[in-house]
Amino acid sequence: MYRSKITGTGHYVPDNVVTNDDLSELMDTSDAWIQERTGIKERRWVAKGSDDTTSKMGTEAARMAIQNAGLKPGDIDFIIFATLSPDYYFPGPGVQVQENLGIKEIGALDVRNQCSGFVYALSVGDQFIKTGMYKNILVIGSELHSGGLDKTTRGRGVSVIFGDGAGAVVLQRSEKENTGILTSHLHAEGKHAKELALLGPNTAHWVDAIIAENDPDDLSYYPHMNGNFVFKHAVTRFQEVIHEALQSTGLKTSDIDLLIPHQANLRISQYIQQKMGLPPEKVFNNIMKYGNTTAASIPIALSEAVQENRLKEGDLLCLAAFGSGFTWASSLIRW
Ligand code: UT7
Repeated sequence: MYRSKITGTGHYVPDNVVTNDDLSELMDTSDAWIQERTGIKERRWVAKGSDDTTSKMGTEAARMAIQNAGLKPGDIDFIIFATLSPDYYFPGPGVQVQENLGIKEIGALDVRNQCSGFVYALSVGDQFIKTGMYKNILVIGSELHSGGLDKTTRGRGVSVIFGDGAGAVVLQRSEKENTGILTSHLHAEGKHAKELALLGPNTAHWVDAIIAENDPDDLSYYPHMNGNFVFKHAVTRFQEVIHEALQSTGLKTSDIDLLIPHQANLRISQYIQQKMGLPPEKVFNNIMKYGNTTAASIPIALSEAVQENRLKEGDLLCLAAFGSGFTWASSLIRW
């Protein structure tokens, strides 16, 4: 059977650095609160007037991944794009990347699984490669959160956490045994859908109603998060889904060479690392620099881990994510 191997990684973040002190000029918050609760020191927010969008950042990350894989855009035969912040309500950004890269009429699929979006997308690409349908798949996670955040004290529980950026990988067919993606595990629990969600606009509350009501106190257009509730579920689900992947492959926690958790909160990553008995150097974190970039966080972290030579051939890489839906997922990869 064919195996799916990540042969190129890339990322792109906007230039504009927003520090915690910058935020305390917009709202009642502090560098001490943000660092203590989340570990975040700064994040990137697309600057006003910049032409960066979710699809454009995804395209830049993809260009880097394609180049690092030693391929040309024309070698790509399928695109999978994960995001919760597409440029448009429709069409999704997959088709925009296809156009931006000048690739002729290949398929482009959009994945809507929020923080777990990249791991879900990777598993979809893996299936297409295993069946022999495609050889070189571009898998992208990209988010532009900053344009849709409530940057007043009212929104501080959410807005200080999220950042903008994009990451991408090239997933290629390999015929080598025991290499690439070993296993993927996907879960969802829709009963908690509204604990971390952006509900407006929606098809039951469409443009004419919004204009007629013109209600400045309608907060449904801003992301809502029940932070404590999400935190408690995250620390449980991350561990469960990593153990599930290990069990299904007969591997042990000590076999993991690098864990890249979705960058939701440094405290969550540290808690998982300690509970699983992993040494800190085996867990990759960059939330300090970028905040939570949702579907982009794992591919940005993976691209940086590769740049820092944190992975060598044969290493066991574990990706794990949890977020809105709730959805959670893991993947074990023999590098
Ligand atoms: O990526 C998807 C998955 N997401 C997650 O996994 C996130 C999970 N949740 C979290 O990371 C944490 O719950 C947060 C970082 C979001 C919040 O931390 P917390 O320790 O749960 O704080 P809290 O929401 O319980 O708020 C504590 C206090 C409140 O004040 P009172 O009621 O104690 O007076 C908040 O109003 O902190 C206040 N607060 C803030 N203060 C300063 C909330 N946000 C801020 C802020 N700056 N930005």
